[in-house]
Amino acid sequence: MKRILSGMQPSGKLHLGNYFGALKNWVDLQDDFECFFFIADWHALSSLYENPRLIKDFSYEVAVDWLSAGLDPEKCTLFLQSKIPEHAELHLILSMMVPVPWLERNPTYKEKQDEVKKVDMSTYGFLGYPVLQTADIVLYRADLVPVGIDQAPHLELSREIVRRFHHLYKKNVFVEPDAKISSIPKLNGLDGRKMSKSYDNAIFLSDNEKEVAKKVKQMLTDPARARRDDPGDPEVCNLYPFHKIYSPQSMQDEVAEGCRSAKIGCGDCKNMLTETMLRNMRPIMERRSEITKKPKEVEEIIAEGTRKAQLVATSTLDRVKQAMKIK
Ligand code: TRP
Ligand code: SF4
Repeated sequence: MKRILSGMQPSGKLHLGNYFGALKNWVDLQDDFECFFFIADWHALSSLYENPRLIKDFSYEVAVDWLSAGLDPEKCTLFLQSKIPEHAELHLILSMMVPVPWLERNPTYKEKQDEVKKVDMSTYGFLGYPVLQTADIVLYRADLVPVGIDQAPHLELSREIVRRFHHLYKKNVFVEPDAKISSIPKLNGLDGRKMSKSYDNAIFLSDNEKEVAKKVKQMLTDPARARRDDPGDPEVCNLYPFHKIYSPQSMQDEVAEGCRSAKIGCGDCKNMLTETMLRNMRPIMERRSEITKKPKEVEEIIAEGTRKAQLVATSTLDRVKQAMKIK
């Protein structure tokens, strides 16, 4: 069985963008691969170093979201990055051989400087973010790394770092990881901008039925449909992509046709969406209500996963030091 590894930064509760962008794929992969999924709490420090105390709660929330979404600890290994010091140790070792220009070329390094204004992201640690990410991946000798297309440059860098290590020490201790790029359905937030916690336009995996229904009502639709009898265009509507994800084809067709001919109003369309969305989200909500009754169990699941991951990490780091003859 091929081995999969992926991680997620704990930056608070997950929204539907996170779910369809990553988590749902992970849930689908756990039956066909040996999976390691971890909470990248050290990576989160790169943007939360002024408020590190938030990270612990965020990590717990992410773990609950994962289990609610259907990640099954019987099938995959779930762990917390910072509990395995080998991530930091391998990061340090790799950092000694990674040329700085490789990191400065990384597009996300530059993009984040422009995007994040509240925190100074021109740090040593953030420049080295992809090196830590490489350590995360190669410690587990993962074959495939499921990530969004935005992470493709990071994966390419990981492959270059692996090749450099193998070239320097003449021993292939790592596996060159391949990105497993998933196609991500395009879902925007309630206001039509990218769904994001900081824009206050997100539907969270942890929202209850009432909250979901309320948010769907608030959703921006085709702005050309100012009145009930104005025809609309589903292709420019911010809500229609949700139907494409949640509703059966027959409903999608009915909505599209009804919208173009003004046979249905946006209110009707939203009621239909709320229903199919909730049908899809209910199992997640039900699992959550079970899980949150037993917070200790969540911690135990992560602790158990961390124990399993630790064994692999120890053995890889051992091989690294042997290859470098520093052990
Ligand atoms: N950079 C990833 C993100 O922000 C998180 C991450 C950290 C990761 N380490 C990783 C993803 C290793 C895949 C593999 O989404
Ligand atoms: Fe969008 Fe539906 Fe309104 Fe058409 S009817 S504009 S698809 S919300």
